[in-house]
Amino acid sequence: MAETGKQPPTRLMSHFTNRSEKEQSSAWTSLWETNENDLWDRGGPNPALIDFIESRPGALPKARDGRKLKALVPGCGKGYDVASLALHNITVFGLEISEKGAGVARQYCSSQLSSSLDYNFGKESSTWRDGEKGEVRIIAGDFFARDWEAQCRNGVGDRAGFDLIYDYTFLCALLPSMRPDWRRRMSELLAPDGILVCLEFPMYKNLKAAGPPWGLNGVHWDLLAEGNSGVIDEPGDKGEGKGGQFERLSKFKPERSYEAGRDSDMVSVWRLKR
Ligand SMILES: C[S@@+](CC[C@H](N)C(=O)[O-])C[C@H]1O[C@@H](n2cnc3c(N)ncnc32)[C@H](O)[C@@H]1O
Repeated sequence: MAETGKQPPTRLMSHFTNRSEKEQSSAWTSLWETNENDLWDRGGPNPALIDFIESRPGALPKARDGRKLKALVPGCGKGYDVASLALHNITVFGLEISEKGAGVARQYCSSQLSSSLDYNFGKESSTWRDGEKGEVRIIAGDFFARDWEAQCRNGVGDRAGFDLIYDYTFLCALLPSMRPDWRRRMSELLAPDGILVCLEFPMYKNLKAAGPPWGLNGVHWDLLAEGNSGVIDEPGDKGEGKGGQFERLSKFKPERSYEAGRDSDMVSVWRLKR
């Protein structure tokens, strides 16, 4: 449902009011320092991601040379989705701007890898629960810098780039003016045949309303397929997708998602144009 009228600002929105691009990182870090990460914490991994991995194996790039797929979760928060991907036999790097947040994520992921909660699995739980696991590495670093990337090389013969990058509540957490930089970094980080999986949220929110979270209905298409700034006035996918660096492989409404985005969340899957 689209927001109507003016909504009172939430604590998260107020915290970010009038902060410039340069102040964004420290603003997130300070929320971690004051234990206010509950402002966005949903208490578990996103079922839409789990269902995607379990029910669409053909959508994933092929693992090569006996190596596991390598994934990145930028702005990973407590690491719910990082742990869940690792429990599906993927090597996962979680990136978090806050040192404290990274510490929380390390602890959480290590506990899930040794004793995983049921919410990490979907219908195919029996296939995955007792199967091989991927490793997890949580890195404290800034998505917009490159200095952390060397920590993601995991051995001799490692190929460049990530096979899978998952964005949920990271793009919507950024100031709209930062969207072209988000796209540039995605294009630098993705392997040539890698996929970018975006859980598009919030779709119900007015595009002009203050964030975070910033409304994203139509933003991914404008930014990735059209090659525009991603700052748009009207919701929905428009144009022919000719100008952008990315092509959309699929977009669908997930059967399950978090309550906050139920009935409006969409999953879109992208790769770099060849
Ligand atoms: C809205 S929260 C979402 C967290 C997580 N994806 C989740 O669903 O629980 C955004 C997260 O991104 C982190 N973050 C913000 N800017 C970042 C940056 N430039 N690089 C890495 N992480 C960043 C914040 O510290 C915060 O944990």
